[in-house]
Amino acid sequence: MKAPSIDSYTGYKGLPPLVDLMPVQTALDTGLTVEEAVARMKHFHYALKRLHEIFTSRITAEPIYELKMAYSMHSYLCIDHLGAFATRVREMRQPPYGLDKAPHPGLEFLFDEIQNAPTSEALVYGLYQVVIPALTESIAKQIENTNLLFEHPTYRVLRHAHLEFKDIQTYGQKALKALIADDTELKAWAETLYSALTAAGGMDSTGLWDDTLPTAMYSAEDYTYDPVPQRDERFQDLYNMGVNAEAFLHDPEQPALPKTLMMYYKRMREIDVPEMMASIITETPDKPHDYYRDMGRQLWDEARHAMMGELGFLYAGVDWTQISLNFTWSRSLNTMLDPLQRHAVLFYIEQGLMPKKTGKEAEWEYAVAAETPIAMKMQDYDWADEILHARIGRDWLVKELGSQKEAMEYGDKCWAVTYQDFNTWKDQGLTEHANWWPAAYRQACATWGCEVDSQVESFDTSYLTSRADMKEVSADA
Ligand SMILES: [Fe+2]
Ligand SMILES: [Fe+2]
Ligand SMILES: [Fe+2]
Repeated sequence: MKAPSIDSYTGYKGLPPLVDLMPVQTALDTGLTVEEAVARMKHFHYALKRLHEIFTSRITAEPIYELKMAYSMHSYLCIDHLGAFATRVREMRQPPYGLDKAPHPGLEFLFDEIQNAPTSEALVYGLYQVVIPALTESIAKQIENTNLLFEHPTYRVLRHAHLEFKDIQTYGQKALKALIADDTELKAWAETLYSALTAAGGMDSTGLWDDTLPTAMYSAEDYTYDPVPQRDERFQDLYNMGVNAEAFLHDPEQPALPKTLMMYYKRMREIDVPEMMASIITETPDKPHDYYRDMGRQLWDEARHAMMGELGFLYAGVDWTQISLNFTWSRSLNTMLDPLQRHAVLFYIEQGLMPKKTGKEAEWEYAVAAETPIAMKMQDYDWADEILHARIGRDWLVKELGSQKEAMEYGDKCWAVTYQDFNTWKDQGLTEHANWWPAAYRQACATWGCEVDSQVESFDTSYLTSRADMKEVSADA
């Protein structure tokens, strides 16, 4: 009997052999050893760990809103893929010794430099011009070298990561184009970064190693996290507590449609949650991976809620730069409480979003009553996400503080600590607590093509006047 030829080899009645993963010849020829595959994945694991730390830690003090949003997403993708890489490494017979240690001083130097990038532009450059393309390319190279039969579980981890890192890279190219007109100075820094990368033998260390490292430009000193939130120049009047959104929303006398506008405001103001959560994650070391993954997911959800609100403003034809999207909550928590206390406040608020009367279900009902599809979609998903956040809080915080009751009491107490007399900000000239609502409402009425309702227009309840009960001064986390 004639031996089957590799070229014409086929399965039963022509079915593709090897589940059609690849041609038979390729299956015979390609592939890395377990040791080689694991070595590369350990490098990627380290890169993802450092990227997650950089993206997260730079959210709070990054003034540019769009970058805050991008870092929120990209930090989450990094921590999520990091888990998949770690799991795969553990399956591969090579104990994951030193999974969190730098595999080469060159890589450590590279990430230290970027962590300390002194400006928004430098950070964007280091991340999206240097690191992300190098990482994406190295992952692609491992995919190319991977045997889809022998190493299929590895392939799936790599392919998923590659898909999403290509997206990050595409975003990065747009960010570079938008923000960096002249990169002369940054190019000199990039050379330092590239030589560190070369010394490490590339992101996967498959090149030649070299022990000589360039001179540090920004990383001579250790990184210090900056907990004070910053906003770009479009954000005005950041201490303004002049419009009590909840007082309007939960007033049964107010009609449904204007409530959608107030909800766009509440959603976009959720920008302060990533600013605050980034501080918890950055300042809480040594938790298991699942903690950082859950917190990263929640942080990204909060950023998405802010962008849903942004979209709502666009739909309502209201210029959000004329509205005070204050940062008082993230600022107070980040500067007055420790990370566990901040988490407890977040927990306390999110549990409070669950009751029917004033919670997420009520907000969704206002959107339904207004028959506004964008508001319905926004509240539908905001509600779903916030239920997940309440669960994440129970999973991590209740365990740490003992019981639901203790966690709630602690959160309530910690929030009270941040109480400040809002009049002080007025006295200091930081704000007039102006009522921005009537103008925003009139602008929306013009878009909606409806009459201005004087009862709605004259809404004038601030957070200053309804402070009798601390619980009334609601944030929405
Ligand atoms: Fe939300
Ligand atoms: Fe939340
Ligand atoms: Fe939220």
